[in-house]
Amino acid sequence: MLKPKCRLLRVLLGFICVLPVCISAAPDLCASLKTVRDSLNITLRRRYMKTNFPINYTIQVHYEEVFRLRNISRLRNEEQPVELSDLQDLWLLVSQEGIKKILRMLPERHPTRRQYLSNLENLIRNFQVLYNQHNPRDEERELPESIQHIWDHLRDPYYKGWKSVTPKFLLDNCYRTMLCLFKDCFSTEDGNYDYCEVLNWRKGKKTT
Ligand SMILES: *[C@@H]1O[C@H](CO)[C@@H](O)[C@H](O)[C@H]1NC(C)=O
Ligand SMILES: *[C@@H]1O[C@H](CO)[C@@H](O)[C@H](O)[C@H]1NC(C)=O
Ligand SMILES: *[C@@H]1O[C@H](CO)[C@@H](O)[C@H](O)[C@H]1NC(C)=O
Repeated sequence: MLKPKCRLLRVLLGFICVLPVCISAAPDLCASLKTVRDSLNITLRRRYMKTNFPINYTIQVHYEEVFRLRNISRLRNEEQPVELSDLQDLWLLVSQEGIKKILRMLPERHPTRRQYLSNLENLIRNFQVLYNQHNPRDEERELPESIQHIWDHLRDPYYKGWKSVTPKFLLDNCYRTMLCLFKDCFSTEDGNYDYCEVLNWRKGKKTT
């Protein structure tokens, strides 16, 4: 007689404990990401990543530090399934690496560093802390080969695959891939707009 009651109680307690966490989780995460998005708006990107630099200024990054919408669709079409969280982890890593690279080139007193990039770096780091709390990693799981390959290259200090890009190019892609990979935080504001579709960005209004 007692047993089913206990089980019921446990189930109920489980719900009570879990629900508030579930309810508060996503809004937190999205609020944090929206501050990142606001910081990446086109006005600020243009001012701090283009106007503030010499014309055609480029920096050297590794191939894997270029992460565009096209990379996402390619990775999604691989035979071995790639999970959304794999791509989100990748976005977090690549975005922060890109920002670090740009910061390394900037003099201590450069306005882009002081008024913009350091702050953006912090916002992304804060988001990452929340994100990791909400998406505990499954240590047992093996990464898909394509993702593992990218991580290996990103971490290899001797790997030589360099590409010249403008600082703005890095942040433009950081912005677009963010909207694509974290759709759930942004979709309600813009109907069914598909941020992952490369063509949509090319076509017009959305070329920000
Ligand atoms: C971008 O953000 C800045 C600062 O918050 C704001 O002044 C500007 O109007 C924003 N631009 C766009 C296109 O939303
Ligand atoms: C910048 O690059 C563009 C396109 O590659 C080129 O047409 C232009 O002459 C360059 N400007 C300067 C000042 O080097
Ligand atoms: C994205 O694609 C480019 C060009 O195909 C490639 O060089 C780069 O390594 C890819 N980036 C990632 C993170 O896979």
